[in-house]
Amino acid sequence: MLCSLSCSAEPVWTVPGGDLRRGEALIRQFGCASCHAIPGIGGARGNVGPPLNHVGSRTFIAGMLRNNPANLVRWIRTPQSVVPGNAMPDLGLTEVQARDIAAYLYTLR
Ligand code: HEC
Repeated sequence: MLCSLSCSAEPVWTVPGGDLRRGEALIRQFGCASCHAIPGIGGARGNVGPPLNHVGSRTFIAGMLRNNPANLVRWIRTPQSVVPGNAMPDLGLTEVQARDIAAYLYTLR
């Protein structure tokens, strides 16, 4: 995947209260890997959704939401209310679980 020129200048976000170690475990637990390729998650080669490398440096989430911690948490919890009918289901994550996962994803630049 090509990186735009602004890539290296993009901030890498920190998620208040997010614990990336728990996030890594939750990503496995909730089966994100069945649809996404995710660096650092063994066997995560799903090809239903986009690969989650470079989440930290993307400008938009799902082409809809400005990339910031609040919006990433929102997407992870309720993708169906952001893009109705898209292939990513609402998985019933709590706010805290979504923060932990977002913290992990923001280590991917
Ligand atoms: C059944 C398949 C499926 C599962 C399970 C799934 N996703 Fe997705 N995901 C998708 C699809 C499809 C999209 C693209 C949606 C769109 O662009 O409208 C997506 C988009 C995303 C995006 C935005 C990526 C981008 O490049 O903008 C993130 C972040 C994400 N998913 C995280 C997760 C996480 C974290 C989990 C587990 C808690 C998960 N997904 C589980 C299918 C899935």
